[in-house]
Amino acid sequence: MSDFYTGSPLDPEDMWFRDDFINLLWEILRTEHVLLTAPRRTGKTSVMDFMAAKPQEGYSAISVFVQDLDHPSEFLLTLLDAFQAKHPVLFRKIFKSGSSWIGSTLDRIEEVGFAGFKIALREQKSKGSDDWKLLGDHEFFEVVRRSKQKLLFIVDEFPDLILNMKRNHPELVRPFLAWFRSHCVSPHPKHDTIRWLLGGSVNLSSTLDAMGSIDLINSLHDERLPVLTSSQVQEFVSRMLSDRNVDFHSGIPSEVANRLGRPVPLFLQMVTQDLYRIWKRVQRPLEIEDVHTAFSELIVSSAARDKLQHYYSRINQYYDEPKRSAAYALLAKLSQSNHGVPRKALEQEFDRLIQSQGANLPDHERRRLFNQLLRDLENDFYVAETSNDQFDFASGLLKAWWKKYYA
Ligand SMILES: Nc1ncnc2c1ncn2[C@@H]1O[C@H](COP(=O)(O)OP(=O)(O)O)[C@@H](O)[C@H]1O
Ligand SMILES: [Mg+2]
Repeated sequence: MSDFYTGSPLDPEDMWFRDDFINLLWEILRTEHVLLTAPRRTGKTSVMDFMAAKPQEGYSAISVFVQDLDHPSEFLLTLLDAFQAKHPVLFRKIFKSGSSWIGSTLDRIEEVGFAGFKIALREQKSKGSDDWKLLGDHEFFEVVRRSKQKLLFIVDEFPDLILNMKRNHPELVRPFLAWFRSHCVSPHPKHDTIRWLLGGSVNLSSTLDAMGSIDLINSLHDERLPVLTSSQVQEFVSRMLSDRNVDFHSGIPSEVANRLGRPVPLFLQMVTQDLYRIWKRVQRPLEIEDVHTAFSELIVSSAARDKLQHYYSRINQYYDEPKRSAAYALLAKLSQSNHGVPRKALEQEFDRLIQSQGANLPDHERRRLFNQLLRDLENDFYVAETSNDQFDFASGLLKAWWKKYYA
């Protein structure tokens, strides 16, 4: 029986519906580096953890989480530290004689302990060259490639590294991406022993577009994590409840699918768990009405609050004005609609807002901004095109929550 998860990455055994996708990723990785994108809470980290735990094709995997990093040096140190921690013997074999900087830090490992490795690396580095590019080229890529060992580096929340860098060290973004790109294209991945699997919840394209640097990530294969289908959602609900001997009305799984809209796996887990709790509480077979209760309970629950709040706050963090205010205004409008709003009406609302802010933008510029905003909101999973030129919240749960607190 599969456990409920409401936020933490899944144990590989409890992951649903991702086998084919994971095989597909391994297939793509044969000849390309991959950028795996999907909004938060949809299951990227779980997929990447699974691949790290059960690597195929003779790879050894090294995973890092870079959401809070902002500098190429820290990125390299974090990679090396994770490598050393995950595969100490292999790491020693590769780096012992190959690299002066890392080799001499390894000599001190008895003294600093494994936990102090990163700090020791940092100290050692500042004694020598502080040029991250040189270190990266000669002490990392060259050495690792010479070893002929197949290595998959899994970098979770890579776009955040770039956005942090843009904020704190803007002059490094282009050089870093150009450098990283050069290692992605030469040697051609087919002849390289290194592979990159980068995960991201934030869409980098508009940021890089605005910097005129979009070419710098086009060496990566862009792959989206598939959205769960309605029948998968229903299968999940059915099996999770049946496995727990819950008696339920046969229409419940499809009602959950309807209410969820485009399903965020986390919300699916939360709602199903809540249905199970309701069943234990009321001690009778579950009825359709209980699905509505579960959704209402969820929107006001503290468990969901942080996760839903995050969708609200991240606009503040990642959308620049005037897109920020416009995003809030359009989402408030959508949350009050019954079945979404036509694109034209959203555009009029957008124009009104821009004008009321006194921004004097030429028509074509305003239209470009609007199209970009709608694309960002779609990419970030806030909205979806429901029928021809009609838009609505992608997630029914998020819509109900937004309406309650922010409309
Ligand atoms: N394949 C899956 N099957 C069932 N639940 C999932 C699956 N993927 C994600 N989830 C749910 O989503 C939550 C977040 O997953 P996670 O992998 O951390 O997403 P992300 O890295 O995209 O933010 C999990 O705690 C779980 O509740
Ligand atoms: Mg994650």
